[in-house]
Amino acid sequence: MTMNSKLMVGNWKMNGSLAANASLLSEVLSGMGGVTCRSAVCVPAAYLAPSQSLLAGSALALGAQDVSAHDAGAYTGEVSATMLRDFAVRYAIVGHSERRQYHGESDAVVASKVQRALAVGITPIVCVGESQSEREAGQTEAVVKRQLAAVIHANGHCVSEIVLAYEPVWAIGTGLTATPEQAQAVHAVLRVQLQAATAHADRVSILYGGSMNAANAASLLALPDVDGGLIGGASLKAPEFLAMLKAASR
Ligand code: 13P
Repeated sequence: MTMNSKLMVGNWKMNGSLAANASLLSEVLSGMGGVTCRSAVCVPAAYLAPSQSLLAGSALALGAQDVSAHDAGAYTGEVSATMLRDFAVRYAIVGHSERRQYHGESDAVVASKVQRALAVGITPIVCVGESQSEREAGQTEAVVKRQLAAVIHANGHCVSEIVLAYEPVWAIGTGLTATPEQAQAVHAVLRVQLQAATAHADRVSILYGGSMNAANAASLLALPDVDGGLIGGASLKAPEFLAMLKAASR
Protein backbone atom coordinates (compact mmCIF):
# COMPACT_ATOMS: atom_id res chain seq x y z
CA MET A 1 0.00 0.00 0.00
CA THR A 2 1.32 3.44 -0.87
CA MET A 3 1.36 6.39 1.49
CA ASN A 4 -0.48 8.59 -1.03
CA SER A 5 -4.18 9.13 -1.24
CA LYS A 6 -5.99 7.11 -3.90
CA LEU A 7 -5.74 8.23 -7.52
CA MET A 8 -8.82 8.05 -9.75
CA VAL A 9 -8.34 8.68 -13.46
CA GLY A 10 -11.00 8.90 -16.13
CA ASN A 11 -9.99 7.73 -19.59
CA TRP A 12 -12.47 9.24 -22.03
CA LYS A 13 -10.97 7.31 -24.97
CA MET A 14 -12.24 8.65 -28.32
CA ASN A 15 -15.45 10.14 -26.99
CA GLY A 16 -16.80 13.63 -26.51
CA SER A 17 -17.19 16.93 -28.28
CA LEU A 18 -16.46 20.51 -27.29
CA ALA A 19 -19.99 20.92 -25.97
CA ALA A 20 -20.26 17.50 -24.31
CA ASN A 21 -16.87 17.90 -22.60
CA ALA A 22 -17.81 21.32 -21.23
CA SER A 23 -20.99 20.02 -19.67
CA LEU A 24 -19.36 16.85 -18.33
CA LEU A 25 -16.49 18.77 -16.74
CA SER A 26 -18.71 21.44 -15.27
CA GLU A 27 -20.96 18.81 -13.71
CA VAL A 28 -17.97 16.91 -12.31
CA LEU A 29 -16.29 20.03 -10.97
CA SER A 30 -19.43 21.27 -9.29
CA GLY A 31 -19.82 17.95 -7.45
CA MET A 32 -16.26 17.62 -6.13
CA GLY A 33 -17.03 18.89 -2.62
CA GLY A 34 -15.80 16.26 -0.16
CA VAL A 35 -13.49 14.62 -2.70
CA THR A 36 -10.07 14.19 -1.13
CA CYS A 37 -8.53 11.59 -3.43
CA ARG A 38 -6.27 12.62 -6.32
CA SER A 39 -8.13 12.76 -9.63
CA ALA A 40 -7.58 13.36 -13.33
CA VAL A 41 -9.25 13.04 -16.71
CA CYS A 42 -7.35 11.85 -19.80
CA VAL A 43 -8.92 13.60 -22.78
CA PRO A 44 -8.44 13.22 -26.55
CA ALA A 45 -5.47 15.31 -27.75
CA ALA A 46 -7.76 17.57 -29.76
CA TYR A 47 -9.45 18.71 -26.56
CA LEU A 48 -6.39 19.42 -24.40
CA ALA A 49 -6.58 23.21 -24.76
CA PRO A 50 -10.26 23.71 -23.90
CA SER A 51 -10.02 21.11 -21.12
CA GLN A 52 -7.00 22.92 -19.67
CA SER A 53 -9.08 26.12 -19.46
CA LEU A 54 -12.07 24.37 -17.92
CA LEU A 55 -9.91 22.60 -15.30
CA ALA A 56 -7.73 25.60 -14.42
CA GLY A 57 -7.52 26.09 -10.67
CA SER A 58 -9.43 22.88 -9.92
CA ALA A 59 -8.28 19.71 -8.17
CA LEU A 60 -9.06 17.62 -11.26
CA ALA A 61 -5.78 17.21 -13.18
CA LEU A 62 -5.44 17.05 -16.95
CA GLY A 63 -4.13 13.96 -18.67
CA ALA A 64 -3.45 12.75 -22.20
CA GLN A 65 -4.16 9.28 -23.60
CA ASP A 66 -0.85 8.70 -25.34
CA VAL A 67 2.50 10.36 -26.01
CA SER A 68 4.99 9.98 -28.84
CA ALA A 69 8.10 7.86 -28.35
CA HIS A 70 10.01 10.58 -30.24
CA ASP A 71 11.15 14.06 -29.21
CA ALA A 72 10.28 16.01 -32.36
CA GLY A 73 10.48 15.79 -36.13
CA ALA A 74 8.93 13.96 -39.05
CA TYR A 75 6.32 11.89 -37.19
CA THR A 76 3.02 12.84 -38.83
CA GLY A 77 0.10 12.69 -36.46
CA GLU A 78 2.15 12.25 -33.30
CA VAL A 79 2.04 14.48 -30.22
CA SER A 80 5.25 14.91 -28.23
CA ALA A 81 5.65 15.02 -24.46
CA THR A 82 6.91 18.61 -24.76
CA MET A 83 3.73 19.59 -26.59
CA LEU A 84 1.62 17.98 -23.87
CA ARG A 85 3.59 19.95 -21.32
CA ASP A 86 2.45 23.19 -23.05
CA PHE A 87 -1.09 22.38 -21.94
CA ALA A 88 -0.18 21.65 -18.31
CA VAL A 89 -0.72 17.94 -18.79
CA ARG A 90 0.09 16.06 -15.54
CA TYR A 91 -0.46 12.48 -16.65
CA ALA A 92 -0.23 10.54 -19.91
CA ILE A 93 -1.61 7.05 -20.36
CA VAL A 94 1.09 4.92 -22.00
CA GLY A 95 0.74 1.44 -23.44
CA HIS A 96 -3.02 1.16 -23.12
CA SER A 97 -4.10 -2.23 -24.44
CA GLU A 98 -6.02 -0.50 -27.23
CA ARG A 99 -2.74 1.10 -28.38
CA ARG A 100 -0.86 -2.18 -28.04
CA GLN A 101 -3.60 -4.06 -29.91
CA TYR A 102 -4.72 -1.67 -32.65
CA HIS A 103 -1.52 0.32 -33.14
CA GLY A 104 1.03 -2.42 -32.67
CA GLU A 105 2.83 -0.82 -29.73
CA SER A 106 5.53 -3.17 -28.49
CA ASP A 107 6.91 -3.31 -24.96
CA ALA A 108 9.98 -1.43 -26.25
CA VAL A 109 7.90 1.39 -27.76
CA VAL A 110 5.92 1.67 -24.54
CA ALA A 111 9.17 1.90 -22.56
CA SER A 112 10.41 4.75 -24.82
CA LYS A 113 7.15 6.62 -24.37
CA VAL A 114 7.59 6.34 -20.61
CA GLN A 115 11.08 7.85 -20.97
CA ARG A 116 9.76 10.80 -23.03
CA ALA A 117 7.02 11.55 -20.49
CA LEU A 118 9.33 11.32 -17.47
CA ALA A 119 11.91 13.54 -19.17
CA VAL A 120 9.46 16.47 -19.19
CA GLY A 121 7.92 15.80 -15.80
CA ILE A 122 4.69 14.19 -16.99
CA THR A 123 3.66 11.14 -14.98
CA PRO A 124 3.12 8.19 -17.30
CA ILE A 125 0.24 5.89 -16.41
CA VAL A 126 1.68 2.63 -17.70
CA CYS A 127 -0.91 0.01 -18.58
CA VAL A 128 -0.27 -3.71 -18.35
CA GLY A 129 -2.67 -6.61 -18.61
CA GLU A 130 -3.32 -10.03 -20.05
CA SER A 131 -5.85 -11.12 -22.67
CA GLN A 132 -8.54 -13.71 -22.01
CA SER A 133 -6.55 -16.43 -23.77
CA GLU A 134 -3.39 -15.55 -21.85
CA ARG A 135 -5.29 -15.83 -18.57
CA GLU A 136 -6.79 -19.16 -19.60
CA ALA A 137 -3.32 -20.39 -20.49
CA GLY A 138 -2.05 -19.49 -17.02
CA GLN A 139 0.21 -16.73 -18.40
CA THR A 140 -1.21 -13.75 -16.52
CA GLU A 141 1.79 -13.19 -14.23
CA ALA A 142 4.31 -13.79 -16.98
CA VAL A 143 2.62 -11.30 -19.32
CA VAL A 144 2.31 -8.42 -16.86
CA LYS A 145 5.82 -9.02 -15.55
CA ARG A 146 7.24 -8.94 -19.08
CA GLN A 147 5.38 -5.70 -19.84
CA LEU A 148 6.60 -4.02 -16.64
CA ALA A 149 10.13 -5.41 -17.03
CA ALA A 150 10.54 -3.53 -20.33
CA VAL A 151 9.66 -0.26 -18.60
CA ILE A 152 12.02 -1.00 -15.71
CA HIS A 153 14.82 -1.97 -18.10
CA ALA A 154 14.59 1.36 -19.97
CA ASN A 155 13.95 3.59 -16.96
CA GLY A 156 15.88 2.04 -14.07
CA HIS A 157 15.13 3.43 -10.63
CA CYS A 158 13.11 6.28 -12.25
CA VAL A 159 10.33 3.71 -12.40
CA SER A 160 9.43 5.02 -8.94
CA GLU A 161 7.97 8.07 -10.72
CA ILE A 162 5.40 6.20 -12.80
CA VAL A 163 1.82 5.25 -12.09
CA LEU A 164 1.04 1.65 -13.02
CA ALA A 165 -2.37 0.42 -14.13
CA TYR A 166 -3.39 -3.22 -14.22
CA GLU A 167 -6.02 -3.53 -16.91
CA PRO A 168 -6.97 -7.10 -17.75
CA VAL A 169 -7.87 -6.86 -21.44
CA TRP A 170 -10.86 -9.17 -21.01
CA ALA A 171 -12.36 -6.77 -18.45
CA ILE A 172 -12.10 -3.61 -20.56
CA GLY A 173 -15.43 -2.37 -21.84
CA THR A 174 -16.97 -5.80 -21.33
CA GLY A 175 -18.77 -5.32 -18.04
CA LEU A 176 -16.62 -8.15 -16.69
CA THR A 177 -14.57 -7.01 -13.72
CA ALA A 178 -11.67 -8.86 -12.18
CA THR A 179 -12.74 -10.28 -8.86
CA PRO A 180 -11.10 -8.64 -5.86
CA GLU A 181 -8.98 -11.80 -5.47
CA GLN A 182 -7.84 -11.71 -9.10
CA ALA A 183 -7.01 -8.00 -8.94
CA GLN A 184 -5.15 -8.20 -5.63
CA ALA A 185 -3.11 -11.19 -6.78
CA VAL A 186 -1.78 -9.36 -9.85
CA HIS A 187 -1.27 -6.07 -8.02
CA ALA A 188 0.80 -7.86 -5.39
CA VAL A 189 2.99 -9.42 -8.09
CA LEU A 190 3.55 -6.00 -9.67
CA ARG A 191 4.38 -4.46 -6.28
CA VAL A 192 7.04 -7.07 -5.60
CA GLN A 193 8.54 -6.49 -9.05
CA LEU A 194 8.67 -2.73 -8.40
CA GLN A 195 10.28 -3.34 -5.01
CA ALA A 196 13.06 -5.25 -6.68
CA ALA A 197 13.66 -2.33 -9.08
CA THR A 198 13.55 0.66 -6.76
CA ALA A 199 13.83 1.48 -3.08
CA HIS A 200 10.85 3.81 -3.59
CA ALA A 201 8.31 1.32 -4.88
CA ASP A 202 5.82 2.59 -2.33
CA ARG A 203 5.61 5.84 -4.31
CA VAL A 204 4.06 4.00 -7.24
CA SER A 205 0.28 3.97 -7.28
CA ILE A 206 -1.06 0.79 -8.86
CA LEU A 207 -4.48 1.44 -10.38
CA TYR A 208 -7.05 -1.14 -11.39
CA GLY A 209 -8.89 -0.68 -14.70
CA GLY A 210 -11.52 -2.73 -16.47
CA SER A 211 -15.25 -2.15 -16.06
CA MET A 212 -14.75 -0.31 -12.78
CA ASN A 213 -17.98 1.44 -11.86
CA ALA A 214 -19.80 3.04 -8.95
CA ALA A 215 -21.11 -0.34 -7.80
CA ASN A 216 -17.80 -2.23 -7.67
CA ALA A 217 -15.30 0.57 -6.94
CA ALA A 218 -15.41 0.35 -3.15
CA SER A 219 -14.61 -3.37 -3.00
CA LEU A 220 -11.68 -2.98 -5.41
CA LEU A 221 -10.35 0.15 -3.68
CA ALA A 222 -10.39 -1.67 -0.34
CA LEU A 223 -7.70 -4.11 -1.52
CA PRO A 224 -4.26 -3.61 0.01
CA ASP A 225 -2.44 -3.13 -3.30
CA VAL A 226 -5.13 -1.26 -5.26
CA ASP A 227 -4.26 2.43 -5.05
CA GLY A 228 -6.94 3.78 -7.36
CA GLY A 229 -8.71 3.26 -10.64
CA LEU A 230 -8.43 3.88 -14.36
CA ILE A 231 -11.99 4.28 -15.53
CA GLY A 232 -13.30 4.21 -19.07
CA GLY A 233 -17.05 4.14 -19.72
CA ALA A 234 -18.09 5.12 -16.20
CA SER A 235 -15.98 8.30 -16.35
CA LEU A 236 -18.23 9.68 -19.10
CA LYS A 237 -21.18 9.96 -16.70
CA ALA A 238 -20.67 12.72 -14.14
CA PRO A 239 -22.81 11.25 -11.33
CA GLU A 240 -21.12 7.85 -11.66
CA PHE A 241 -17.60 9.28 -11.87
CA LEU A 242 -18.31 11.49 -8.85
CA ALA A 243 -19.61 8.51 -6.87
CA MET A 244 -16.34 6.73 -7.62
CA LEU A 245 -14.25 9.75 -6.59
CA LYS A 246 -16.17 9.76 -3.32
CA ALA A 247 -15.67 6.03 -2.82
CA ALA A 248 -11.92 6.68 -3.19
CA SER A 249 -12.02 9.52 -0.68
CA ARG A 250 -13.12 7.46 2.30
P1 13P B 1 -13.81 0.50 -19.08
O1 13P B 1 -13.89 1.13 -17.72
O2 13P B 1 -14.77 1.13 -20.06
O3 13P B 1 -13.89 -0.98 -19.02
O4 13P B 1 -12.35 0.86 -19.66
C1 13P B 1 -11.25 0.60 -18.87
C2 13P B 1 -10.08 1.22 -19.52
O5 13P B 1 -9.61 0.77 -20.54
C3 13P B 1 -9.52 2.44 -18.91
O6 13P B 1 -8.32 2.79 -19.50
